[in-house]
Amino acid sequence: MKTLVILTHPNLEVSRINQCWKEELQQYPDEITIHELYKEYPDWNIDVTREQHLLEAYNHVILQFPLYWYSYPPLLKKWFDDVFAYGWAYGSKGDKLKGKKFGLAISIGDKKENYMPEGSVSFTVDEVIAPFKASTRHVGALALPYFAVFGASFQASHEDIDHSAKEYIKYILKYQQ
Ligand SMILES: Cc1cc2nc3c(=O)[nH]c(=O)nc-3n(C[C@H](O)[C@H](O)[C@H](O)COP(=O)(O)O)c2cc1C
Repeated sequence: MKTLVILTHPNLEVSRINQCWKEELQQYPDEITIHELYKEYPDWNIDVTREQHLLEAYNHVILQFPLYWYSYPPLLKKWFDDVFAYGWAYGSKGDKLKGKKFGLAISIGDKKENYMPEGSVSFTVDEVIAPFKASTRHVGALALPYFAVFGASFQASHEDIDHSAKEYIKYILKYQQ
């Protein structure tokens, strides 16, 4: 296994994008491990040691999630708070994430043209994900360019979604080595 995908979606059963992406990821069992936070921790009681051991086993980690309020779904934020611990991820002895590559695969409800300075959101996706980039930097990891599909709420057609799933695999394989 070369890539760990942390998939965080609070109700995957009604998802169009993340469910399709998950099914595509499942076609590559030798390359990709899928770890679903809401499935593993329905009570939100994250097993920190288990998560840390899992991260230690991979150099390439993708966080896959739907954009909620320009941020992570809450269990993924809690995962950061719990797992990226002092003495393990950062601090004078915390070096376990150093040098690892972290990417993002985000489904974004709104249109791409709105994620521009002159668009209705007025921030770019790169600006929206600044906390992710600062966090990876803080633990000595590398933030890869993000992968995203826009128009995830309404505009994206079945064809768009299927195409995005194929592009997602290419994105993973590109940065896997
Ligand atoms: C609670 C909530 C908050 C959302 N916040 C945003 C947002 O800030 N920006 C945006 O573009 N879309 C937002 N959306 C739309 C989701 O990003 C979109 O529904 C999701 O990416 C679709 O992926 P899925 O088919 O896998 O569920 C939000 C949706 C929900 C339910």
